Amino acid sequence: MTTLKTALDKNSADYIANTESMNEKLAALDVEYQKNIAGGGPKYVERQHKRGKMTARERIELLIDEDTPFLELLPLAGWGSEYHVGGSIIAGIGIVEGVECMVIAPDSTVKGGAMNGFSLKKSLRINDIIRENPMPVISLTESGGADLPSQKDVFVPGGAMFRDITQASANKIPTISLVFGNSTAGGAYIPGMSDYVVMVKGGAKVFLAGPPLVKMATGEETDDETLGGAEMHAKISGLADYLAQDEQDAIRIGRNIVKRLNWRKKGPEPRAEVIEPLYDQEELLGIVPGDLKIPFDPREVIARVVDGSDFDEFKPLYGSALATGWAEIHGYKVGILANTRGVLMSEESQKATQFIQLCNQIDTPLIFLHNTTGYMVGKEYEQKGIIKHGAQMINAVANSKVPAISVLMGASYGAGHYGMCGRAFNPRFVFAWPSSKCAVMGAAQLAGVVKIVARQAHEGRGNVWDDQAEAFASMIAKQTEDTIEKESTPMFMSGRLMDDGIIDPRDTRTVLGMALSAIHVNPIEGTDRFGVFRM
Ligand code: COA
Repeated sequence: MTTLKTALDKNSADYIANTESMNEKLAALDVEYQKNIAGGGPKYVERQHKRGKMTARERIELLIDEDTPFLELLPLAGWGSEYHVGGSIIAGIGIVEGVECMVIAPDSTVKGGAMNGFSLKKSLRINDIIRENPMPVISLTESGGADLPSQKDVFVPGGAMFRDITQASANKIPTISLVFGNSTAGGAYIPGMSDYVVMVKGGAKVFLAGPPLVKMATGEETDDETLGGAEMHAKISGLADYLAQDEQDAIRIGRNIVKRLNWRKKGPEPRAEVIEPLYDQEELLGIVPGDLKIPFDPREVIARVVDGSDFDEFKPLYGSALATGWAEIHGYKVGILANTRGVLMSEESQKATQFIQLCNQIDTPLIFLHNTTGYMVGKEYEQKGIIKHGAQMINAVANSKVPAISVLMGASYGAGHYGMCGRAFNPRFVFAWPSSKCAVMGAAQLAGVVKIVARQAHEGRGNVWDDQAEAFASMIAKQTEDTIEKESTPMFMSGRLMDDGIIDPRDTRTVLGMALSAIHVNPIEGTDRFGVFRM
């Protein structure tokens, strides 16, 4: 039998404390998500409504099929910066006429939907997702274009947005632009480069330069509608393929376009029968301890995420700090690697290497569940070849060709983050739990190292390490520890687009299911070519 059993006791002090700690983190996260959802705030939302317009979120809600989920991606982009949380653009995977689509909508209530450095980075990450997991793209266009005060950050790299739209089209990924409002200058190339363009009568304004700039440039007197109104583009310039009578009509036409795309997924279909886990997903709140130094068993997580809680463990008696095995999530076959104790040693590294090779051999995607403090250090482990063995694992991850998804549940430190398929190893998606922490090492360890290095340098210069030097170094170490602690938090990391979103642990199964569905647009093909494994 490969069905997991649970040892979780909902009445235990640990479970209660863990749940409390997770709920606190979720409440703090919710505050930030609400900032994203609120857009520019009531003043700008009311103005939008008074103008007879919907907000970007209302448009998305109307666009996607009723009662279907919307997997919002990178919702915290820009967190902790001077810019609005979310990067003034909303993006995510939604179902339109039964077809998985990437929906992208500048939030025009935030600085007119103008694009800053974070909006651009977010858009380019979304374009990577589209490239790797092809799906039709629907842009709900209404934007002030480049954020003018920060144009230096966006102008030159921003060209990639237009390149990506047309390259998507060349790769047979349909691109649809529904233009609701302003789309000027560079923004005009969003509809300009799209396969299908719908413009809203009286709303869309698409021109390279507005009337004031035209007046300055050529002296010509003109107005918005003549220069770039929807009717003009539908009847005269031909930039609009469809003229929508109002916003609702634009969405209706957009949905109709998707219906006609004849979009077919080419990857393996999931098993049709739905098999829920045996254990309550609500209990995912009580597994990770508030203090990440305390280990937890990721099988308790797996038991609440995979179909029928069925986890067929591979090499269960070897390298026990890493669990590897096969399971299904929403009917998709996966290979899972999950840290059971923080440290990865030689056995775990070699077990992971073999498991990744096996998954490539049988064309099975990988799920990495992170809770690692990195590879083991120390004389004994160095002499046993921990670098070689870690390198084998990193080699396998780097050259693996089956799609991978990483979920940061707890710690994700050092080269362990790399071996477990961190962002730089191109997993198709990375999600983080509010309990996760990601950095080169733990904050306390890093601060300790900084202090030791400072002492060595001080003494190396011929100075004596006295009380004053100790006090000063301790102060610096404390400051460093506080900074690293802050910079390791999921909100900080997510704000810098190091993951695709922080998720509620209880949503893990749904989120992985949606991501796996997007991944299975194409056949899953593993590699048989890895780099030279150092022996
Ligand atoms: N860069 C920076 N801020 C911008 C901006 C831009 N491109 N476009 C708009 N904003 C800001 C406005 O300054 C305003 O800020 P505030 O409320 O803090 O004062 C806020 O966004 C809303 O703009 P507002 O003009 O009041 O909204 P609107 O809905 O009436 O008009 C636009 C929206 C986009 C039509 C109008 O703001 C505009 O023409 N912007 C410039 C467009 C442009 O030429 N962009 C360059 C393209 S490369």
